Amino acid sequence: MAENTIYVLGLETSCDETAAAIVEMPVAHGRVTGPGRILANQILSQIETHAPYGGVVPELAARAHLSHLDRLIGAAFEEAALRLSDMDAIAATAGPGLIGGVLIGLTTGKALALAADKPFIGINHLEGHALSARLTEAVDFPYLLLLVSGGHCQLLAVNGLDDYTALGQTLDDAVGEAYDKAAKLMSLGYPGGPEIEKRARHGNRMAHKLPRPLLNDAKAGLDFSFSGLKTALRQAAEKAAPLDDDKVADLAASFEAAVGDCLATQTSRAMRRFRRTAPMPLAADATLNLVVAGGVAANHYLRARLSDAAAAENFTLFVPPPALCTDNAAMIARAGGERFAAGLIEARPMATPARARWPLSR
Ligand code: KG4
Ligand code: ZN
Repeated sequence: MAENTIYVLGLETSCDETAAAIVEMPVAHGRVTGPGRILANQILSQIETHAPYGGVVPELAARAHLSHLDRLIGAAFEEAALRLSDMDAIAATAGPGLIGGVLIGLTTGKALALAADKPFIGINHLEGHALSARLTEAVDFPYLLLLVSGGHCQLLAVNGLDDYTALGQTLDDAVGEAYDKAAKLMSLGYPGGPEIEKRARHGNRMAHKLPRPLLNDAKAGLDFSFSGLKTALRQAAEKAAPLDDDKVADLAASFEAAVGDCLATQTSRAMRRFRRTAPMPLAADATLNLVVAGGVAANHYLRARLSDAAAAENFTLFVPPPALCTDNAAMIARAGGERFAAGLIEARPMATPARARWPLSR
């Protein structure tokens, strides 16, 4: 089969970003062969809607998706200078996420596909994050993935498309969730990640001795835990009260150092395991790939820690640009394109259910 180009519309509504994107991808021999181009990437963040509540309110999120999705899809077609009839497939997040929001994107995607007689593909949001690095870089399978977002914290071997092995995950809070809760207890804004990162830059990372949960627990394997860290931070904040900017900076920096240690240590262990168990024969000194994705991957300090860890294990680190780390529809279009090219489409796509929970690995 000769090389050709496909165009996919992607929709994302699983949390508090309403997004529509159009991605162009080169295809040959049943697979997408390179990064391709993001022709449109429309994102409406609902941060202002949810900020007064210190977290996402599902009912408000669903209503906002319903109000804005149509307009964003129109804007995406305008940005790309393409029409619905130019699309090869339509992809929408089918879960996991807040069910009201998922239903809106999924139903909109199905309706467009029916109206235009195009293939519809329901996408696992986590697969979108897992493949997001392939939007901008030629990262070949297999690779090790650290997925760190507001809802997820997991280490996965990405062996190939639709072939993921879970290596470790959080036993309680996701990393982004820990950042958001830490910010809340220091009365910082929502979302907490960027705010803590900003404050931590001026702080002393060794000011407070906070725990590194599970790192010394031989039975913990490659799992994570952040709830004990959050409790220890609360106690340190209560002891340091009343808080001023300097004290907040020290608390934020100490918290971030502990998170950095947990992520770097467990990811290093996972890199060693991935090298031992990689599905193809490897030279002992082969350079392998580590991809970090999800909203927390936008954090510069954590990126630097993971970059050092990767270098020490002879892995090349790939981190998507910040706008593709946080929730977006380009990654959903990309996942849709990869599935379309490979013929990995449900037999009855219109029956694709919306799922609140949907683990990526089998
Ligand atoms: O991937 P994402 O946009 O949504 C989910 O699928 O969860 O991730 C959002 C999460 C939020 O918890 C936010 O606080 C966190 O990512 N985040 C950060 C940073 N930017 C966003 N965490 C740490 N440092 C950042 N710079
Ligand atoms: Zn996400």
